Amino acid sequence: MIPDFKHIKLKKIASTNVYLHHLSETKKVKEWTVVTTQEQTNGKGQKGSTWQTKPGDNLTFSVLLNPEVDPKHAFYLNIISALAVYKTLSDLGIESKIKWPNDILVNKQKIAGILVENQIGFNIKQSVIGIGLNVNQTEFKSSLNATSIILKTQYVELLNVQTQLLGYLAFYYNLLQQSNFKLLLKLYYSHMYLFNEIGCFYDGKSKFKAILLGITDVGLLKLKKQDNQICTYDIKDIKFIF
Ligand code: BTN
Repeated sequence: MIPDFKHIKLKKIASTNVYLHHLSETKKVKEWTVVTTQEQTNGKGQKGSTWQTKPGDNLTFSVLLNPEVDPKHAFYLNIISALAVYKTLSDLGIESKIKWPNDILVNKQKIAGILVENQIGFNIKQSVIGIGLNVNQTEFKSSLNATSIILKTQYVELLNVQTQLLGYLAFYYNLLQQSNFKLLLKLYYSHMYLFNEIGCFYDGKSKFKAILLGITDVGLLKLKKQDNQICTYDIKDIKFIF
C-alpha cells in the first residue's frame, strides 16, 4: 500500500535531516512526512562528514517514520533504505552494490548516501531517513569518487525518481513491520558489496585482507581474517580499501 505522503518542498536549507528532526520537536509530524530541498548548505553525512552536491541537480531529502520496532532491529532501517535505492537504480538499468552500512556504489563509485537517525525509547519511536542520490550532476571532484544516474544512463526527472524510491521504501518498510527480517537480510546480502568475498580493510592500525561474512544481529560488520579469527566492527572503526 502506498502511504499518504506529506511533502514539504524547500529551496534551500542547512540539512533536511536536521530540519525534519527540529520540526518533529516543535509539533506533531505525521509519519511519511518528506522534506526535499534543492540545496543543502550543511548536508550531513555519516561519521560527522558533510554531504555536498550541486544544487538542483540531485535528490536530497529526508523521510520521517515511526517504526515502533525493537531497538535491537535498528539496523533494518538502514537495510530498507539501501534496498529502496538499490531497486530504484535497478529499474533504471543501473546495477549497484550496497557497501556496508548503506552507501550505494556503481563500479566502486558512490551514487548515493544514506543517513538514518533514530530516536530510541522502549521502541524506535522515530526515524529520520536522509537520502542523497546523485541524479543529473555530470561533474564531481575526483576526490569524491562519485557518479550519478545521468552518467550511467540518461537525464531523469527528480520527482519521478523520488516517487519511485519512496514507493520502494514503503514496500520494504512494510516487510519490516511484518518482522520479515529474514527476507530483508537475504535481499541485503544479495546486493552487498564484497559479500562472501575477500576485501582489503583498514582498522585504524593496519591494512589487512579478510572475507566479508556479513553483519551481526545489530548490524556490525563481520569479517574473517586470514588467521580465521572472526572480528566485528562498528562504522567508525573500519574502512574499506578500494
Ligand atoms: C553519507 O554517505 O555520508 C550519508 C549522506 C546522507 C546525505 C543526505 S542528503 C539528505 C539528508 N540530509 C542530510 O543532511 N543528509 C542526508
